[in-house]
Amino acid sequence: MEYSRRKFISFIGKAGLGSVITPQFLISCGNTTTPTTGFNTISTERLNELKKLPLEGLFPSDKDDLLLANGLDYHTIIKWGDRISDKDTFGFNNDFTCFIPFDDGNPNDGLLWVNHEYVNPLFVSDFDYRKYENPFQYRTIEQVNKEMYNVGGSIVRIKEEKGRWKIIENDPLNRRITAKTPIQLNWDIPIKGKTTVIGTHSNCSGGITPWKTFLTCEENYDSFFGETEYDKDNVASHRPSSQGWEKFYKYPPEHYGWVVEVNPKDGTAQKHIALGRFAHECCTLYELDDKRIVAYTGDDKNNEHLYKFISSKPQSLKEGMLYVADTINGKWLALDWENQSVLKNKFKDQTEVLIRAREAAKLLGATALNRPEDIEIDPVTGNIFVSLTNNKSKNDFHGSILKIVETNGEFDALTFKATTYKAGNEENGFSCPDNLAFDLSGNLWMTSDISGSAMNKPDGSYMPFKNNSLFVIPRYGKDTGKVIRVASAPRDAEFTGPWFSPNGKTLFLSVQHPGEQTRDKSNPTSKWPFDEDGIPKPAVVAITGDLIEKMNTLNQIEV
Ligand code: FEO
Ligand code: CA
Ligand code: CA
Repeated sequence: MEYSRRKFISFIGKAGLGSVITPQFLISCGNTTTPTTGFNTISTERLNELKKLPLEGLFPSDKDDLLLANGLDYHTIIKWGDRISDKDTFGFNNDFTCFIPFDDGNPNDGLLWVNHEYVNPLFVSDFDYRKYENPFQYRTIEQVNKEMYNVGGSIVRIKEEKGRWKIIENDPLNRRITAKTPIQLNWDIPIKGKTTVIGTHSNCSGGITPWKTFLTCEENYDSFFGETEYDKDNVASHRPSSQGWEKFYKYPPEHYGWVVEVNPKDGTAQKHIALGRFAHECCTLYELDDKRIVAYTGDDKNNEHLYKFISSKPQSLKEGMLYVADTINGKWLALDWENQSVLKNKFKDQTEVLIRAREAAKLLGATALNRPEDIEIDPVTGNIFVSLTNNKSKNDFHGSILKIVETNGEFDALTFKATTYKAGNEENGFSCPDNLAFDLSGNLWMTSDISGSAMNKPDGSYMPFKNNSLFVIPRYGKDTGKVIRVASAPRDAEFTGPWFSPNGKTLFLSVQHPGEQTRDKSNPTSKWPFDEDGIPKPAVVAITGDLIEKMNTLNQIEV
């Protein structure tokens, strides 16, 4: 059934007051829900239990450790450098995670996808760029190759036994996707002469498709191969990257900045050109009744935009139209070369519009937003929540969460209303919202992304918030709508990639860039996860425990 507010209300009448409904099919980046055949409801008894749940938040902490609220535990599933097979190891700076169980229905055995966003050369390739004025002239191809191996993504079979998730080393489905893996373009026209390009990198957040494949999003792609920029006369020039990979590999910047789909079963991948090219944070999908797809995706950069793709054919991420949000007038504006003269005057065809989506969006009058990051669809109301992390250039230091209400609750509507759901500030207890995830009961979980260079600085705006954290915003009971800190990250780290297991009992979570501010490897700013070598390591953890089980369990009733 297509999910809309109208249908939600009529269903409430059917199910009785006090029921919470998860739509028949709602899946997205970091979201809990995987395809189901019926509706999930909470009984009145369960609702009363949830309302009474004791929930004691943590105070902000600058301790170098992963701290958890009472009722929660964690164990590490996999960390940077761990062997996943005889030939491959787990990459660096893990972000988005997505767990897909096998078809046999066992919720505790399946494939975990993990994004590897970028590398810290000090740890990965033993290259200390701070030592040099022109660092990249000193770096070797061997060092760049190591870095290219450590980004992209990992597919790892994991299994839970006696409350602990473990990787199955050497499972035939374990594999790495790296900055050197050939990847097809899902487009009829070659881009910079290619229909297959080399590699993926900058893989930040992502999503899942209704046909159970992973989506991994290329965010700050210009860090590795730079960017093509155009002056006022439309003359192109190359802006060099910050990481200097183009010294050895001259791959066109236009081959990056896309949403990439990966098939878990064989590791084949494709880049979806129709979804536009920019710093994609995530890609959150909704399947309509007729199986057309709506995809929401944000461009995480100051003053960039929020986009929505609506497919014209069932389950297509190629045929359809990309729109960009005018949040002031509540309009989705079509990036349509054929029918928008302002685009026809500037670009030679629709492919160029998609490659230069940022410029096209501005020509149409899209609203400049404060770093749109993760996007989730509320399973109870169908509203769309978008993290706006911050925009220091506009004196927005703490960010906010934007709420989009599509007209009549129809996901393919071309008009909507946008309001601020919650602002980051001291009173609300959080700053710089990033990843979002709704659990099976409709509580909203959120991670923060205060940058390592600003965190815990006595003269800065972020001192009261201390280390980055994981928060929950309960839907029921005395704490409804409050922002409660339930985990505190190790020093310099950011929690990323929250994803619930199918039964809601485990929250998979990435710990990204612990010790990122380290200048001297023998004296790192973090030692988490406290290995013997004392080197900080990004890792994926499983958060479990009584609190999570009580907050996030539904009575499943077929209706
Ligand atoms: Fe990679 Fe926008 O966070
Ligand atoms: Ca992010
Ligand atoms: Ca971020």
